[in-house]
Amino acid sequence: MQRLFITGGTGYLGRALVRHASMLGQRVAASNYCQSPPDDQSVTWLGLDIRDQDAVSQACEVLRPDVVIHTAFRQSGPDLWAVTAEGAQHVARAAQACGARLIHMSSDVIFDGERMVAYTEADQPSPITAYGEAKAAAERFVAESHSEAVIVRTSLIYGFNPIDRQTQFVLDLADGKRDERLFRDEYRCPIWVADLAAALLELAQHDYRGILNIAGGECLSRYEFGILLAQANGRDPTRITSGLSAESSTRRPRNCALDIRRASNLLRTPLRGVRAVLTDQKLLIA
Ligand SMILES: NC(=O)c1ccc[n+]([C@@H]2O[C@H](COP(=O)([O-])OP(=O)(O)OC[C@H]3O[C@@H](n4cnc5c(N)ncnc54)[C@H](OP(=O)(O)O)[C@@H]3O)[C@@H](O)[C@H]2O)c1
Repeated sequence: MQRLFITGGTGYLGRALVRHASMLGQRVAASNYCQSPPDDQSVTWLGLDIRDQDAVSQACEVLRPDVVIHTAFRQSGPDLWAVTAEGAQHVARAAQACGARLIHMSSDVIFDGERMVAYTEADQPSPITAYGEAKAAAERFVAESHSEAVIVRTSLIYGFNPIDRQTQFVLDLADGKRDERLFRDEYRCPIWVADLAAALLELAQHDYRGILNIAGGECLSRYEFGILLAQANGRDPTRITSGLSAESSTRRPRNCALDIRRASNLLRTPLRGVRAVLTDQKLLIA
């Protein structure tokens, strides 16, 4: 049985991974940072700050994982670089030193989003935001520090149990708690969190190495996605208003569509698009 170590086990994806891996009967260890871990006796929890190389190395030496799935990160704030870029390097070095397979979570926002077609695994990062720069640096550091790392580029992660940040934002718009527009020229391939967790756990058992795009099989604008999320959660979609990316005060990547043909051929887990997920959940309103 594989020993898994999930960094960021208290995060949105991390929690789903811990839940799925435990359900599959795998031996799971996970790290938390500010949040308290859930009271689950079947999981070994470890408080860890990934900015601390010695602490990360020690964690891997103690846990002796077969596979590390690195999800911990910061999207913004003063420790963005230290956590997201340097922290990923610390995790990669520690995983390499203890002989563990490494799956590092990256993002579609490493691209500038100016392409007309979907990005493949061969495309070079071209970040235009501080977060994108930190994630692009993390990819470089991971590739330099771990000879067999898998770098998974993914898109917006959503789910309803519990509700993710993106969906909550849309519900707040629909409920009149916020007043912002969703861009109709900003494209993403959102992925259902359970699909992503299942794909990553399948990948953990695989021998694939290098970059792999794992995202949902449907490219949508943030506005189209918002309408579907609002409808699926019983809200009035006419409360959602649209705008153009150029209206934003900061430059944002527009088309971050990811080409998922390689992952779809490699993995059995279906990488469903949003409408397919909502149809399966009986939540798609015609
Ligand atoms: N969410 C998306 O739509 C999306 C899209 C593309 C890519 N991704 C990538 O997917 C991964 C997971 O994203 P997510 O949204 O699930 O994350 P999240 O919910 O924001 O969780 C972040 C995790 O990082 C941990 N963390 C923060 N600072 C830390 C530190 N200094 N040391 C150790 N752990 C620390 C947090 O621990 P505490 O909560 O205990 O403090 C938490 O468990 C990330 O790598 C992200 O770049 C996400």
